[in-house]
Amino acid sequence: MNVVGFNGSPRENGNTARLVRTVLDTLEANGITTEYIQLGGQNIHGCIACMQCRENQDKQCSIKNDKCNEYLAKMIQADGIVVGAPTYFADLNAETKALLDRASFVALQNGGLFRGKVGTGVVAARRGGAVRVMDSILKPFQMSEMFMPGSTYWNIGYGLDPDEVSEDAEALKNMRNLGGQMAYLLKALQLARDNNIQVR
Ligand SMILES: Cc1cc2nc3c(=O)[nH]c(=O)nc-3n(C[C@H](O)[C@H](O)[C@H](O)COP(=O)(O)O)c2cc1C
Repeated sequence: MNVVGFNGSPRENGNTARLVRTVLDTLEANGITTEYIQLGGQNIHGCIACMQCRENQDKQCSIKNDKCNEYLAKMIQADGIVVGAPTYFADLNAETKALLDRASFVALQNGGLFRGKVGTGVVAARRGGAVRVMDSILKPFQMSEMFMPGSTYWNIGYGLDPDEVSEDAEALKNMRNLGGQMAYLLKALQLARDNNIQVR
């Protein structure tokens, strides 16, 4: 089983990076293979509503000159997806939103490519608006028939300067709990598939 985790922040060693890495480290400790991807700073374009993904049915976005399709392919083959984002004016930053919009739309228009996967979001903030960012990350997952694990708090860590979130002990504990919950859910779903238990 494998999980792909994205750092949507342009800061490669910032707070979002620490949160995503903490979840992935816990997954690894629970026997799940992970891949970490630096999404922020890759100039991912927004969705242009061309509907070519619905037309072509090739599991790809029509915009070919950025890394969206490469990342989408990783999401399609993964059993689980972690999306981390910083809080920008109480909402998602643009690049994270761009990947979520394009990847989720292609997945939906191509027969539900994310169905049955486990997905979660983690969010870095200085002070306010992070719950809304969490909600924005989970919105496309919720309508993609994905499963979302809970943890001991909303998946938020506080800090302004890069890696200041390492001083937020409760946040890191929550991220480890989240990784453990995600690993459990992934294993439970695998067990269900092995026993041919159908959702419907
Ligand atoms: C353009 C911009 C807008 C921001 N807006 C907010 C905000 O609305 N609420 C907040 O708590 N922090 C806000 N911040 C602070 C970042 O969310 C915070 O520093 C976060 O830890 C950054 O994560 P990173 O280190 O992974 O980039 C903003 C930062 C920037 C650059």
